Amino acid sequence: MAIRNVGVVGCGLMGSGIAQVSAQAGFPTVVREVSRELLDKGIGSIRKFLQGGVDKGKVAQADMDQTLANLRGTTELKDLADCDLVIEAASENLGIKQELFGALEKTCKPDALFASNTSSLSITELATFTKRPDRFLGLHFFNPVPLMKLVEVVRTLSTSDETYRAASEWCRAIGKTVVTTGDSTGFVVNRLLVPYMLDAIRVYEQGLASRDDIDNAMKLGCGYPMGPLFLTDYVGLDTTFAIAEIMFGEFKEPRFAPPSLLKRMVLAGRHGRKSGRGFYDWSTNPPS
Ligand code: CAA
Repeated sequence: MAIRNVGVVGCGLMGSGIAQVSAQAGFPTVVREVSRELLDKGIGSIRKFLQGGVDKGKVAQADMDQTLANLRGTTELKDLADCDLVIEAASENLGIKQELFGALEKTCKPDALFASNTSSLSITELATFTKRPDRFLGLHFFNPVPLMKLVEVVRTLSTSDETYRAASEWCRAIGKTVVTTGDSTGFVVNRLLVPYMLDAIRVYEQGLASRDDIDNAMKLGCGYPMGPLFLTDYVGLDTTFAIAEIMFGEFKEPRFAPPSLLKRMVLAGRHGRKSGRGFYDWSTNPPS
């Protein structure tokens, strides 16, 4: 099972990063967004990241040009018909993913592999929206995708050995390290990371320490590259809230319950970096 042509559905924060690393590793990659406006925004962020790499001397100009040449944006799902691997990176919403996988099932080659980048929904359930549960798995990337080395490869009870091997090989070919996990909500990373981020918000909510002291405590005390409140802004408060709700629904454990401050900040439109305001004000550089 050789993967050559890659399709990515969604060109937001995660989808654009996945499309970039795929194209950068030499795979002809088609990325699909629902509107021309969102597509242009996503491709624009890829271009900006690559340009940043060129400016830092990390990416050769020729590599940037070749990456962009390997990449094709579209608003039509039918343009993914020839893909050997299709990775869905749409919003964390079961209904949207159900509709997408139903349409992809009709559009794509019968032997194409389907993957979801979901961080909390069940891969087994997503596979039921297709007729190929043996060729279906989770490929969970981390933000920022071009810099984070990990992919969680998620096997369901139905994922075939061949699918698992081909998808894992592809992840290695794009320069990632693979960890293999079963299909349980949050897999390994979010099972550990989400309660930590939620606890940091609770500590802040309870007035135990200031925002900067909480973040500095974990950066300087534990050597983490970002403090937990900064990281929540980085991931997106709306995304963190959606993941927490799904995890709480699954496990019914208080440690996964979203704190009320998180819910209120999401309702107030403070989604973090993507909206310009979360725990930090992102209109300044560095965020203040
Ligand atoms: N192109 C190429 N290389 C680039 C680049 C670019 N545009 N921008 C930066 N780099 C390189 C830098 O040159 C640097 O390389 P060296 O280490 O060789 O010097 C490296 O990438 C780090 O870049 P910076 O020095 O600019 O940035 P940093 O040191 O502040 O690190 C970070 C940035 C990697 C994001 C780091 O802060 C980090 O690891 N943060 C934690 C992120 C995290 O936890 N992500 C997971 C979130 S959870 C998730 O995604 C899953 C979910 O389901 C919620």
